[in-house]
Amino acid sequence: MEISYWKSRWRKDNIGWHMKEIYPPLPTFWPQLNLPAGARVLVPLCGKSHDLDWLVSRGLNVTGVELSLKALQEVMRRSAKPFTRTESHGFPVFKSESMELWQGDFLRLPNAPLHPVDAVYDKASLVALPAAMRKRYAKKLLELRDSHTQILLQSFEYQQEEMNGPPFSVPEREIKKLFGSSFNLNLLLEQSKFEEVKKFHERGLSSFFIEKVYLLSPGRPI
Ligand SMILES: C[S@@+](CC[C@H](N)C(=O)[O-])C[C@H]1O[C@@H](n2cnc3c(N)ncnc32)[C@H](O)[C@@H]1O
Repeated sequence: MEISYWKSRWRKDNIGWHMKEIYPPLPTFWPQLNLPAGARVLVPLCGKSHDLDWLVSRGLNVTGVELSLKALQEVMRRSAKPFTRTESHGFPVFKSESMELWQGDFLRLPNAPLHPVDAVYDKASLVALPAAMRKRYAKKLLELRDSHTQILLQSFEYQQEEMNGPPFSVPEREIKKLFGSSFNLNLLLEQSKFEEVKKFHERGLSSFFIEKVYLLSPGRPI
């Protein structure tokens, strides 16, 4: 997916992925990560998700990365804390006491200033990208991770021939291929969303649509 595709979707307010509430599996499964207050959570392709605010409300430091300035402006507007604008490695960065919002292409992010990354929260991020970009996305996450980094990851599975992404189908075997050399996969949730994604039926989806949530924990040392 090109940058222009996402910018156009934001411009037209065509953002069907955006949830008005917290993504329910987040509060259900996040405690399993057992993070101390002050831990740093990276949220790639964060949109204007309310999950950012929820993570901050848990006492975590949140780093969101997003192409769309419009999305990040909305996150800042919602926050009670003031933000200042700085630049780092050519990226505009908006900082508050508990949040850093990097505006730009996640795949081009510099590695050093983001460490430590105690956890990554991926909701609708990996599945937003076509296969070749998913490889680059996973490579970037592997560069950014620390030896203790955990990843909470949402994925979808359906017959890719039935419908064009996004969201794309990212089966478990691909997740193992992308991350399995460094992480152990633990499937936390598997549920059919077929009835809830009626708009995808109009795009051709006709067999099944399954949502999965994984916890990726460090496997072999870096
Ligand atoms: C499907 S949306 C998910 C947003 C958010 N995670 C959520 O659940 O609401 C994907 C988001 O990724 C952003 N995006 C796509 N490619 C990106 C990239 N290479 N770097 C940063 N953001 C990107 C898009 O602008 C869009 O907001």
